[in-house]
Amino acid sequence: MNPPVSDSNGLSVENLSVSFGGVQALRDVRVQVSPGEIHGVIGPNGAGKTTLFDVIAGVVRADTGKISLGSDVITRSSPTARARLGVRRTFQRAQVFGHLSVRDNLLTAIEWRGGGGGVLADVLKRVPSRQQLEVERQRRVDEVLAMCELEDVASILAAALPIGRARMVELGRAIVDEPRLLLLDEPTSGLDEVETERLAQIVRMVAAGEKCGVLLVEHDIAFIMSLSDSLTALNLGEVLADGPASDVIASTAVHDAYLGTGATT
Ligand SMILES: Nc1ncnc2c1ncn2[C@@H]1O[C@H](COP(=O)(O)OP(=O)(O)O)[C@@H](O)[C@H]1O
Ligand SMILES: [Mg+2]
Repeated sequence: MNPPVSDSNGLSVENLSVSFGGVQALRDVRVQVSPGEIHGVIGPNGAGKTTLFDVIAGVVRADTGKISLGSDVITRSSPTARARLGVRRTFQRAQVFGHLSVRDNLLTAIEWRGGGGGVLADVLKRVPSRQQLEVERQRRVDEVLAMCELEDVASILAAALPIGRARMVELGRAIVDEPRLLLLDEPTSGLDEVETERLAQIVRMVAAGEKCGVLLVEHDIAFIMSLSDSLTALNLGEVLADGPASDVIASTAVHDAYLGTGATT
């Protein structure tokens, strides 16, 4: 039985199934994430974690099921429409705009909102409201560059960065426009200990605003337990257990399928 659908502003995934040819990647999956909540997704390789993110972000279509964000049903919405509603993600393999500077990687995430002031402002550029907006955007980008400790590389092309810092650029780009739902797919892979701790602080900060829910896939059980309020454990596309993080970790089904094997993926 699925839990009752929350009427909050959060994410609700119900009865979600996806198959790729003969492979059932997700079967009857449910996930609820409230604003301010950090919800971890665990499961061995091939469990369906990335597919779940792809379906929520809109790049893979659900065969059946329903996805909503607050009162908006987004099951059939385009990835762009979802992004406009505040869905942001990072990828299992970091994806940055390599040909843009680090600063511009972040700016692109807010420039889509346009300059305001209409066509006249486009022509004149010096319209005060337009200039004010630009100042505010640069201020927000500066704030996130500082948060992600990227100030020293702000003008460097993102392609030139080592993986750990590229991941922080990806994270910065995902949070600069103040998301409503943040999807992080194995965000610590390639990070050193200091970067991992920084990432954890940023994720806590984003959730602490109570406006954004975070869905987090991670290999490192200690890391995911240190951050998550609640968990979903997947195996072979099915929910093995969900609920408060400590209950899920203690569940026999999760131990048998996953933790008991010594797997850390
Ligand atoms: N584009 C695809 N085409 C075919 N099979 C896929 C595709 N994406 C994922 N799968 C399959 O779906 C299952 C779940 O994969 P995935 O969501 O990547 O798992 P996880 O992220 O938990 O490791 C796997 O069996 C995988 O091989
Ligand atoms: Mg994956």
